[in-house]
Amino acid sequence: MQGKYLNVKNIAIFASGTGSNARKIVEHFKENPDFSVKLLVSNRADAPVLDMATENGIATLILNRKMFYESEEILTALQQHDIDLIALAGFLWLAPSYLVKAYEGRMVNIHPALLPAFGGKGMHGIHVHEAVKQAGVAQSGITIHFVNEQYDSGSILFQATCPLSPEDTAADIARKVLQLEHLHYAPVLQELLTNIPKLHS
Ligand code: GRF
Repeated sequence: MQGKYLNVKNIAIFASGTGSNARKIVEHFKENPDFSVKLLVSNRADAPVLDMATENGIATLILNRKMFYESEEILTALQQHDIDLIALAGFLWLAPSYLVKAYEGRMVNIHPALLPAFGGKGMHGIHVHEAVKQAGVAQSGITIHFVNEQYDSGSILFQATCPLSPEDTAADIARKVLQLEHLHYAPVLQELLTNIPKLHS
């Protein structure tokens, strides 16, 4: 029993918004004994996603800028929870280099467009979908990518597309893209976790 427990791969989700992706991830892994969502990290103490975590018995941690950028406290918390993978889901702060190094190949983000287009600073939420609409492109989609020290530029792990019609508003595009996120993010995380060893074995 103890040995089995030690082999469980643990996930931390960093999220600061409504947390619909975080919820999907939690639901996906809930019945799977090989994986566990152990920690929810947010930089907003009033983020609705924190309630979802608490309801599901997941530990929460609120970050402030000083703690994130001027200390390595978060690493201690990640170690305490034996975290093997970090999934960003609506977390807008750039990852500091100590964290990128410690979780190289083990920290991913989901972006609501087909990178490398429509990414970078300021490209989040409805701004992304407005830019896609403005560009008049025939499709949009999602990109799941590894996290580095710049916005939206780490290597791409997975993309999925959805067709757009000229009548689609930015809100319509957002809806289509969010559906794709909910469908794919958790399974892609599971596949990645399956392919990496535990961080501290
Ligand atoms: C998603 O669109 C994701 O692509 C982006 O932030 C949004 C988070 O949405 N990184 P939610 O809070 O999971 O609903």
